[in-house]
Amino acid sequence: MNVNRRHLLTGTIGAAAVAMVASACASEDGGDGSGSGKKVGIAMPTKTSERWILDGDNLKKSFEEEGYEVTLQYANDEPDEQVSQIETMVGQNVDVLVIAAIDNKSLSGVLAQAKEQDITVIAYDRLILDTPDVDYYASFDNTKVGTLQGTYIVEALDLANQAGPFNLELFAGALTDNNTKYFFQGAWEVLQPYVDEGKLVIPSGQTELEQIATENWDGAVAQERMDNILSNFYQGGNQVQAVLSPYDGISRGIIASLEGNGYTTLPVVTGQDAEVESVKYIIDGKQSMTVYKDTRELAATTVDMVVAVLDGNEPEVNDDSTYDNGVKVVPAYLLEPVSVDVNNYQEVVVDSGYIDAEDLA
Ligand code: GAL
Repeated sequence: MNVNRRHLLTGTIGAAAVAMVASACASEDGGDGSGSGKKVGIAMPTKTSERWILDGDNLKKSFEEEGYEVTLQYANDEPDEQVSQIETMVGQNVDVLVIAAIDNKSLSGVLAQAKEQDITVIAYDRLILDTPDVDYYASFDNTKVGTLQGTYIVEALDLANQAGPFNLELFAGALTDNNTKYFFQGAWEVLQPYVDEGKLVIPSGQTELEQIATENWDGAVAQERMDNILSNFYQGGNQVQAVLSPYDGISRGIIASLEGNGYTTLPVVTGQDAEVESVKYIIDGKQSMTVYKDTRELAATTVDMVVAVLDGNEPEVNDDSTYDNGVKVVPAYLLEPVSVDVNNYQEVVVDSGYIDAEDLA
């Protein structure tokens, strides 16, 4: 039996219904064995971020319920380590590789080996570039993540009605991650008109992706950059009113810097991933918002893709034009991200079962 989890989990059903369906799926699907005897290798980037631990756990559980034998590896954000982990998986004759790449351009060699063995390759959350040997892409609408972040800043500062000028600083993710530019472009498209109009100003003048990127998505790197910005461009009582941050770990680094520099009222700070620590910050009024991406849905989508391919069927995709990896347009299934702040976190991330209420206490 192949329950198509994606159809059950997405659409217009509410968060609570998603949770109910998700748990129903878990028991209904349990061990039907359609993947019996097949092997899947899962390569995740790092355990330093909570989301990848959830992704790995969800994928492992879902594949095992389908009867697959699973190898799950994390590579400490080291591209070479990830390549060698994938080489080992290829050597183990896996049938499928599910990869969240650390460096989107470092995998061509190992994926060529995989293709020689007819291994199906799914780019998970992050697109793999410069190779013909990636079959499908499962992710979220990455541009929309940025749109939600930019829109939150515009609405929080009421830029439609206020003249400002408000001080804004920009942060982006790792340049080795293909998602980085989509997140930033989505946000910048919303923010730039207000910068052009003079309602938003960027005292650091740093607006190029290369200037605002954060190596390894590392919060400590972002904290240091924010420290530098504050000491170089915010002397004499000038305050930051908004910070575009692409990811919760970076947001917490930025907030640490602001607090360390004496801010008692914090600016608008965006985020992504609905990590427990950041949802706590949202409840405490330190971080303004996050973008929730249900990693349970992403895992379910990925498993559906794999089951279809290995059954000799075409997996369902909903985007066959956006994600050109430099060699081909990779057919993708993109899920919807959701903007979360203090007003809807309970419904969206707690009632859906994504975060336990007691973890937020
Ligand atoms: C991105 C991912 C984000 C965030 C970030 C840092 O690729 O899409 O959700 O997790 O990596 O881990």
